[in-house]
Amino acid sequence: MLPQTTLVLTSQVHEGGKIVAALTDMPLPAPGENDVVIAVEAAPINPSDLGLLFSSARIDDAVFAPGQVEAPVSPAGMAALAGRIGEVMPVGSEGAGTVIAAGSGAAAQALVGKRVATVAGGMYARHRVVPAASCMVLPEGTSARDGAAAFVNPLTAVGFVETLRSVGGKGIIHTAAASNLGQMLVRLCAAEGIPLVNVVRKAEQADLLKGIGAAHVVDSASPTFREDLRQALETTGADTVFDAIGGGPVLGTILSTMEQVGRAAAGAYSRYGSTARKRAYVYGMLDTGPITLPRDIGFVWDVSGWLLFPRMEELGPEVRARMQARVGQDLTTIFASNYKTQVPLSRVLDEDVVRDFTRRATGAKYLILPQE
Ligand SMILES: NC(=O)c1ccc[n+]([C@@H]2O[C@H](COP(=O)([O-])OP(=O)(O)OC[C@H]3O[C@@H](n4cnc5c(N)ncnc54)[C@H](OP(=O)(O)O)[C@@H]3O)[C@@H](O)[C@H]2O)c1
Repeated sequence: MLPQTTLVLTSQVHEGGKIVAALTDMPLPAPGENDVVIAVEAAPINPSDLGLLFSSARIDDAVFAPGQVEAPVSPAGMAALAGRIGEVMPVGSEGAGTVIAAGSGAAAQALVGKRVATVAGGMYARHRVVPAASCMVLPEGTSARDGAAAFVNPLTAVGFVETLRSVGGKGIIHTAAASNLGQMLVRLCAAEGIPLVNVVRKAEQADLLKGIGAAHVVDSASPTFREDLRQALETTGADTVFDAIGGGPVLGTILSTMEQVGRAAAGAYSRYGSTARKRAYVYGMLDTGPITLPRDIGFVWDVSGWLLFPRMEELGPEVRARMQARVGQDLTTIFASNYKTQVPLSRVLDEDVVRDFTRRATGAKYLILPQE
């Protein structure tokens, strides 16, 4: 017997300038012909999930009650959220669990009893009804913990490599590189033979990456940052930036250093600067300030946004299938996620838990276990 209702974590923006995150019992819909019902066993808290759960709300000023958090949002923050005022939004982009029921369609029925992963959204829930087509069957013996984060970060790492190859880039410069995703990228680039320059902001992050085999790590907080970066760029030939930070000076410094390297390589002086192309893709907003660029970067550069699912659409079905297969092949090695801790869904809005996971710090990722 399927339960009639199930526990779900939702987020709602209120007119008066606040976000309310709540654990709510919601009706569990019957699966349609091509749907499956998943008993969700594990779901990671990614930075993009925090964007939906709390957006720019001030957690320091939040009011905590059992199963509910109310956090104020500034007028500027509210302007960005105008499109979702009043809407109760289930949270949790991806997760893994066991299929406990299915619609009558053959593909859905074939999944009953299987452990699957999906990126269908609303995964911070005890049960979730999703299209069978959105599910990836996890290899026999894979735990829900190992399969929970099989989409967002792994596909992004593979997507960077596909994007690099599609534009004929020679190597990657990656910022906030000690992130969970950054660690996957270190392992993936090593396996694919792609030069990678990792930009971090703390000495211990550099140690962490070197410990997993990163050859080039530079620390943006070091007084020798620019010189260290120049040397790494000259050694690797890396020409394509994937920037998770967005605001602040780091992206501009990287482009300016790339230009310096390009000018040195060109030999002859040109007042228009180097003709070597510099590409940067801004794929995160860890710093929510404006993206600013200095004027010493010449004229041959592109800075654009990079978002996983629209980018996968652009890359086409053949590349999409290749990306998915690549992740499946090395899910528990190259694409393994590390978690600081795991927490039952019923405890996810506890004050100490919320204050900790909203720090978005290195090695502080949480895994929610909805069945506990
Ligand atoms: N565009 C897309 O489609 C896409 C897809 C997947 C992921 N992402 C983005 O990828 C990034 C990494 O995700 P993740 O799950 O791997 O994150 P994570 O493991 O939670 O790590 C976050 C990292 O960001 C660093 N950081 C936080 N604020 C920073 C700042 N202002 N300047 C520099 N570094 C900062 C942290 O370092 P400290 O310890 O020093 O704070 C930490 O190393 C996120 O921005 C996420 O939104 C984007």
